[in-house]
Amino acid sequence: MQISKFIQCLPKAELHLHIEGSFEPELMFSIAQRNNIELPFEKVEDIRAAYNFSNLQDFLNIYYQGMNVLQEKQDFYDLTLAYLQRAKLQNVRHVEIFFDPQGHTERGIEFYTVISGIYAALEFAQENYDMSFRLIMCFLRHLSEEAAFVTLQQAEPFRNKLFAVGLDSSECGHPPSKFQRVFSAARNQGYRCVAHAGEEGPPSYIREAVELLKVDRIDHGNRVLEDEQLTRELAQAKIGFTVCPMSNYRLQVVRDYKKHPLKRMLDSGLVVTVNSDDPAFFGGYINENFEVMQNSLHLENAVVADLARASFTAAFMENGRRVQLLKELDTYLDQQSNNQ
Ligand code: ADE
Ligand code: ZN
Repeated sequence: MQISKFIQCLPKAELHLHIEGSFEPELMFSIAQRNNIELPFEKVEDIRAAYNFSNLQDFLNIYYQGMNVLQEKQDFYDLTLAYLQRAKLQNVRHVEIFFDPQGHTERGIEFYTVISGIYAALEFAQENYDMSFRLIMCFLRHLSEEAAFVTLQQAEPFRNKLFAVGLDSSECGHPPSKFQRVFSAARNQGYRCVAHAGEEGPPSYIREAVELLKVDRIDHGNRVLEDEQLTRELAQAKIGFTVCPMSNYRLQVVRDYKKHPLKRMLDSGLVVTVNSDDPAFFGGYINENFEVMQNSLHLENAVVADLARASFTAAFMENGRRVQLLKELDTYLDQQSNNQ
């Protein structure tokens, strides 16, 4: 996909990115080989051909299978650094990365192995790319709340490396209310909270995430407009929405990019950001997601700039950094208008 120069150079933050979802088939093969793991695919093209999902669960089945090759700290480091290098090339200035500890601890990998590899790569990018970051640990909602409590406890030695908790995996049948107590415990430990809601699930799940889990942001939330009252409330509360257009299209929660709710969400006064979710599986990183929305919804550059601005205002970054990045964005926009 051809990316416009305006989007390419636009400073931006990515707030919805599953690090395991950035696992490109080429890297999957090379890590599988060094760990002596046999993949059920012969070549890279066979993996890509298997990525024809018709819903979230189809995708998750392949996503969990892919992470089985991750065994050592170095594997998690390589995976994370590969994403950060791409993010740098797309002028991402701040990242908030999800990881699924239970996807690894359930198959016998230590929490330490996972977090130390991911964190070392984030520190490398901070030092070498001037890219700030936050790390968010997600609970898998198809598992029990007790399992989430075990994960919260396993995270205690690494508390200073983790900024927020999130909720992901199979949405329908696993409402936020199932995790009310563990989110309350996490908040008491000082974690900020986010949750996937209203991706495949109904708007009532978005309300539960806000009212019961007390989240600061909604991940996806593309179904919010089905509830006008909720939309008004969340616009007024300035709750950020981390929308992922290519994910929505590939998982068939939105059938036509031209009908994607992003523009209507903006018009309703919601705080909306654009993100890539699982870029290796959905065929595009953050700039491709911006590009497809600008083209399909005919967004003016000023609207695209507002999406980037929202990515900084809705981020969990320190205020000094926020001021710096907002200034960087304004300087860029001033240069653009001077060149016209
Ligand atoms: N885990 C990774 N990507 C996800 C998505 N889009 N929804 C729910 N869980 C996920
Ligand atoms: Zn997601």
